[in-house]
Amino acid sequence: MPKFLGKVEFPVTIELGRGLEGAITNITKIGYVDGEAGHLNYRGYPIEGLCEHGNYSEIAYLLMFGKLPNRAEQDAFSAKLQAGAPLPPAVVKVIDALPKDANPMNALQAAVAAAGCVDREAGMVATHASDPASSIETETNVGIRVLSVTRTAAAYIARSREGKPIVTPDSSLSFAANYYYMMTGQKPDAITTKVMDVLLILQADHGMNASTFAAMIVHSSMSDMYSTVAAAIGSLRGPLHGAANQAALDDLLTVGGPENAKAWVEDRMAKGQKVMGFGHRVYKAYDPRATVLKRYAEQLCKQRGMEKIYQTAAAIEEHVLAAMKQAGKPIFPNVDFYSGVVYHVLGFAAPFFPVIFAVGRTAGWVSRVLEYLPENRLFRPRAVYNGDTDLKYTPMSDRK
Ligand code: ACO
Repeated sequence: MPKFLGKVEFPVTIELGRGLEGAITNITKIGYVDGEAGHLNYRGYPIEGLCEHGNYSEIAYLLMFGKLPNRAEQDAFSAKLQAGAPLPPAVVKVIDALPKDANPMNALQAAVAAAGCVDREAGMVATHASDPASSIETETNVGIRVLSVTRTAAAYIARSREGKPIVTPDSSLSFAANYYYMMTGQKPDAITTKVMDVLLILQADHGMNASTFAAMIVHSSMSDMYSTVAAAIGSLRGPLHGAANQAALDDLLTVGGPENAKAWVEDRMAKGQKVMGFGHRVYKAYDPRATVLKRYAEQLCKQRGMEKIYQTAAAIEEHVLAAMKQAGKPIFPNVDFYSGVVYHVLGFAAPFFPVIFAVGRTAGWVSRVLEYLPENRLFRPRAVYNGDTDLKYTPMSDRK
């Protein structure tokens, strides 16, 4: 495998933004975000069609294997997901031992790491290094188990927090419906199942974002898939990444009604504060995921008689867009703005929004590291040192 990609040679003079903006990690076929056009595809399929026609497990297969599954492939994949779904007793104990008010993302990180302690094939990739085909097959199967167990752990964390017993997975349900069922104890109706699928699909992959890069960095040291996903969960936890939907919903509830939106947005802008759920490092156009979710948010709010929250969100959007247009900044709603609305209307508590995001994104994390595995090279960027040199050590008694 060549050490260098394309014409890039080392050392090179390149312009890099803070936060590695502009840096290229690798070459991928998994997904493409066209930020200028507001377009997202997975393996060449535009996201809109995948949401309309697909379900999450089919799309997870597409991301991992590069093609939409035929019936036999889908059945085999679903059987593997089901086999990996039950929560190992050790993981149940870990979740039960955590404080009920712990941040659910921290709890999910701990649960996934604990699941890695009981999967005997976790970390086998390093021992198979001399046999790449076997490494990839083993790691793919571990990845499918991580995806499944992350969902079950996420569901139980939500229940355990409320002192409710675990709901065992129901193999007759789809991946998304089963997740809802294990979280709430209720079998979802058709529209709820569809919305769960759309939420998970829309969050399944999104270029080389912070959590995906975290996953890539960890796995590139030939670490195991559970450590990889746990690290990515840690990155997704932050309000600039996966927890923005929680903050966006808090704002929405504070605004309270569409009639208050204008004054609230103006106040926010006057104070130079960001509006959560708007703006994106890559999209300089309307986030296509927000377009899809906005439509489902409207439908769901109508179906559940909660139109006011949708109207408040739409009013905030209208005023932020007007303010941004006036300021000449390409800031639009991102996926988190309307995902917060949808989660809330589905009855999920705000601290769990990033957890649901993490379950969806696990397919992307796993797919990206599996794609990188055959050409694996440890990530090792450099920092520019501009500190002092040649300082003399002073004994503590002489220090000010
Ligand atoms: N509200 C108001 N103004 C904003 C917003 C916002 N949400 N986002 C960016 N701007 C403004 C900035 O203040 C800045 O203005 P300036 O040039 O006058 O200083 C300009 O737009 C450019 O913004 P940056 O912060 O430089 O853009 P960047 O690409 O670094 O930021 C980010 C992207 C971090 C997502 C930012 O838009 C933000 O903080 N948004 C709110 C948090 C959020 O919604 N995060 C979810 C991202 S999507 C995801 O992770 C799934």
